[in-house]
Amino acid sequence: ARRIWLTRHGESIYNQKALIGGDSSLSPNGAAYAEVLPEVILSRLPKSADGTPVPVSVWTSTLQRTIQTAAALPFAKLRWKALDEIDAGICDGMTYAQIAEKHPAEYEARKKDKLRYRYPRGESYLDMIARLEPVISEMEREGESIVIVGHQAVLRVIFGYLMAQPQAAIPSIHIPLHTVIELTPRPDGTMGVEYIPVP
Ligand code: F6P
Repeated sequence: ARRIWLTRHGESIYNQKALIGGDSSLSPNGAAYAEVLPEVILSRLPKSADGTPVPVSVWTSTLQRTIQTAAALPFAKLRWKALDEIDAGICDGMTYAQIAEKHPAEYEARKKDKLRYRYPRGESYLDMIARLEPVISEMEREGESIVIVGHQAVLRVIFGYLMAQPQAAIPSIHIPLHTVIELTPRPDGTMGVEYIPVP
């Protein structure tokens, strides 16, 4: 049967500095994750009835950190602008502490309603839900297994949709770094979930 694997990009230079957004490259830790990712996926690949491995396609965003994370995966790749991380607008490139200090009203507003809060000149989670619609319909149409190498906020939306989570829960879904989330469709239409931590 078909599988969907979700993973965040490997740790980036911005992750190391606790900065949000940007388009930084992988850190050495992140590059090590990218190197072992093919083994992890290949070891989980179900076989078709005739014994051959099922075909897989790999989707990334257009940002360097997802492209670098997917680079060693031996499958066809597709880049989606719609998979890019939430646009933090005027807060892009800052730490949460810097946002709290420089834009305290924005910081509080986001804390109060993270789902609806839109960064000035940026996006909200509701904006992301709308922008990810075409990706989600293609995901449902696609018969092949898919590896989606994404970002924290983007994967919260996709995971929340696939797991039929209420919208309000989406902004706080836990999507850890260096973990492959394996989703297997069940006959009743729900999804089985397995978290595969990658040391
Ligand atoms: O910190 C990594 C990151 O992907 C940022 O680029 C992004 O702004 C953030 O996570 C999204 O998470 P949250 O919605 O919890 O701020």
